[in-house]
Amino acid sequence: MNILVIGSGGREHILCWKLRQSRMVKKIYCAPGNAGIAREAECIDIPVSKLEQLADFAVKNAIDFTVVGPEAPLCDGLVDVFKARGLKVFGPDKIAAQLEGSKTFAKDFMRKYNIPTADAGTFCNAGEANEFVNRKFREGVKGIVIKADGLAAGKGVLVAYDAKSATDFVDSCFEGAFGSAGNRVLVEECLFGEEASILALCDGKTIVPLVSSQDHKRALDGDLGPNTGGMGAYSPAPVVDEKMTAIIKRDILDNFLRGVQQEKLYFRGIIFVGIMVTADGPKVLEFNVRFGDPEVQAVLRRLDSDLLDVMLKTADGRLAEAEMKWSDDHSVCVVMASGGYPDAYEKGFEITGLDDAAATGAVVFHAGTALKDGKIVNAGGRVLGVTARGRSIREAIQSAYAATGKIHWKDCFYRKDIGHRALSRECNK
Ligand code: AMP
Ligand code: GLY
Repeated sequence: MNILVIGSGGREHILCWKLRQSRMVKKIYCAPGNAGIAREAECIDIPVSKLEQLADFAVKNAIDFTVVGPEAPLCDGLVDVFKARGLKVFGPDKIAAQLEGSKTFAKDFMRKYNIPTADAGTFCNAGEANEFVNRKFREGVKGIVIKADGLAAGKGVLVAYDAKSATDFVDSCFEGAFGSAGNRVLVEECLFGEEASILALCDGKTIVPLVSSQDHKRALDGDLGPNTGGMGAYSPAPVVDEKMTAIIKRDILDNFLRGVQQEKLYFRGIIFVGIMVTADGPKVLEFNVRFGDPEVQAVLRRLDSDLLDVMLKTADGRLAEAEMKWSDDHSVCVVMASGGYPDAYEKGFEITGLDDAAATGAVVFHAGTALKDGKIVNAGGRVLGVTARGRSIREAIQSAYAATGKIHWKDCFYRKDIGHRALSRECNK
């Protein structure tokens, strides 16, 4: 089969890498891809926003199946465009993608289908939102969460512990800091607990969770510094034990599926549920309608069966027939980033040590990399995902860092404590 993967991050690199292991694959294309993806797939210079151009490419090149990585083309309606041309594609359509694209759409869906989540109010002007925030703090809440309603590349959320920073953020939303995404804001109760990521395949009839994982959103060790797209991940997440898995399935995933069916949403792809495990049980922080990154790097490193087979069955509405084989190994992904990320950073520095890192047995997935004069250089904020497996979380962490230590470019940085929660649980056993 000819496959087209859409996107250019670490997520799309592992998707290409894993799909290429399938005996059904003849050729993989990736639009637009990056320097690492170029080793697995032929990279095509079409931006993810050019839906018709992508569909033209798929028709001309006899693409049998298209896998969409990022949320933006899904929210723009890529699946609708491809379906209208008779092309097989993995992902939800434009309306269903609102589960990620609009936080109010997602909140209404959760309320309607009894999916546990934080209480929230929706506001269309700063005055009312700020009045609500000030009242909550006067009532004694410990924190409040402000969310710009639309897609804001992970930046439109603030967890505030005082009224002033909350109201400043509300003001900046309505002053256009996040473009039209900030025309409406959600003000949400702050939840406390441990976060986990649940990725599940859904074809509208069946929902099947993948193994659990946990992301590290803050830039610096000890969960300090600003929020990022994710600085590292590991799988499994011990906070999601057998009992918690059953509760998540019953209270969240089964209700999600019921909602998809009753609302007649076209959802044949992956639903990524961000969860806070609170003292009152798991509550949903957000839905995303695509694989989480770097979570997907940790999760798919543990998949020992054919990814293409299960994705095709999901797209065909035959997910119930699919089988997945997971390794009992643990996996860890350490993200290496450009100095300054998530704020401004310099690009174009040569990356060295990639072959030495690969020789350790780890797999290095590329995100923001490019080829310049035959050399691989940093070209984005998050640059590499160094991903290793081990018999225990400790072994996986050691292997991932042994490989990470071999890679270098000017000003690069990474967190030294990926997996710390799982490790301390293991130590306390
Ligand atoms: P979201 O884009 O809605 O997932 O928010 C991004 C991040 O903000 C989450 O991964 C959490 O770390 C944090 N967050 C979001 N909502 C809440 C909440 N209600 N309580 C505490 N933290 C939250
Ligand atoms: N790692 C979080 C995300 O992909 O949104």
